[in-house]
Amino acid sequence: MKFSYVSHLYCPKCSETYSTEEENHLCTCGSPLLVAYNLDELRGKFTADDLLTRAPDLWRYHELLPVRQNNNVISLGEGMTPLVDLPALGKDMSIPRLLMKDEGVIPTGAFKARGAAVGVSKAKELGVKELAMPTNGNAGAAWSLYAARAQMSSTIIMPVDAPSITRNECALSGANLFLVNGLISDAGKIVAEAVKEKGLYDVSTLKEPYRIEGKKTMGLEIAEQLNWKLPDVILYPTGGGVGLIGIYKALQELKELGWIESDEQMPRLVAVQSEGCAPIVEAWEQGLHESSFWENSETIAFGINVPKAIGDFLVLDALYETNGCAISVDDDSLLQEQQRIAELEGAFVCPEGAASFLAARKLRDKDWIKEDEQVVVLNTGAGIKYPDTVNFEVPTLEPGDSI
Ligand SMILES: Cc1ncc(COP(=O)(O)O)c(C=O)c1O
Ligand SMILES: [Zn+2]
Repeated sequence: MKFSYVSHLYCPKCSETYSTEEENHLCTCGSPLLVAYNLDELRGKFTADDLLTRAPDLWRYHELLPVRQNNNVISLGEGMTPLVDLPALGKDMSIPRLLMKDEGVIPTGAFKARGAAVGVSKAKELGVKELAMPTNGNAGAAWSLYAARAQMSSTIIMPVDAPSITRNECALSGANLFLVNGLISDAGKIVAEAVKEKGLYDVSTLKEPYRIEGKKTMGLEIAEQLNWKLPDVILYPTGGGVGLIGIYKALQELKELGWIESDEQMPRLVAVQSEGCAPIVEAWEQGLHESSFWENSETIAFGINVPKAIGDFLVLDALYETNGCAISVDDDSLLQEQQRIAELEGAFVCPEGAASFLAARKLRDKDWIKEDEQVVVLNTGAGIKYPDTVNFEVPTLEPGDSI
């Protein structure tokens, strides 16, 4: 058995193919590239039973990941996060079969660790020494920390408003860190210039093909945790949309491998955005296959403040193909939802996760989600990474006071 059954890179727009043995970023047509595997060769050789004795991290699916040599794997133990039952919240929103895939408990406290682990490992395999990226915070934190573990240097540019803890994570890891008085799109332009001038390895969202593969493992895990049955609906807080594209890709690969029955319905995928930045929602409502740049975007759910995603057409295709939808929520209501989740379930979810729970509630109210459906919500990070979004007046006592 080979460690990886990776085959090649292909362009989902023009079908051009590329090698996984050398650095590749975008297709010459400008599209992101996707990773293909030799699934025909793997079918029958690799079965779900093989997983039973493997460690509970995302490398348990190494055959379906792009790293060819085991010794290039850079891992902090990421993956196999819990799929948690939420009976009280489910009752409150009339979705009794509500589940949370909790990415708050992964190294670096956000699901970005998955993309970083696989992306940095593949970069190491390709001989990369210096990587660069724009970020809304969590991805930069994860990539700079994993890069440090791989003895690689990183250049990270993030908006000044990005969560300060993510800034500290990058700085602690020894990254060349810069803040930009603007949005991730402004950071992206500066990175693109630096990449050209200094020959850095560009790991901007979807300009690097392997991050999706890391995020794909969320889909593999959800399927494994549900014993190779699929839920009815999966809600995902969508910025660049990498996780949603990855989950969809994972489920397609599992079907091709025969681990999921071919007649099993795909879950309806839901892209959740904020009312202050909802380009995918706008495009989906108009039935379009591409989004337009969202001017003056703003939201407290910082990870989903992406005014124009380079892989928007892949996100929209996944929504159309699965009869899913896109929906936006407002910041005040998502903060109320965040508090309700903590009160009812003891889970301190990130604002992006809270947005997705609120979206589930709204879709249930509209009867788009039915009461008997099984619904998985991605909480993409730990609430404790965003201390500034929570503000309470708490009484202060003097020594000797009583309550
Ligand atoms: C906590 C959190 N949730 C969701 C997202 C959006 O991720 P994606 O690019 O996969 O849409 C981000 C991205 O920064 C994030 O940090
Ligand atoms: Zn192309």
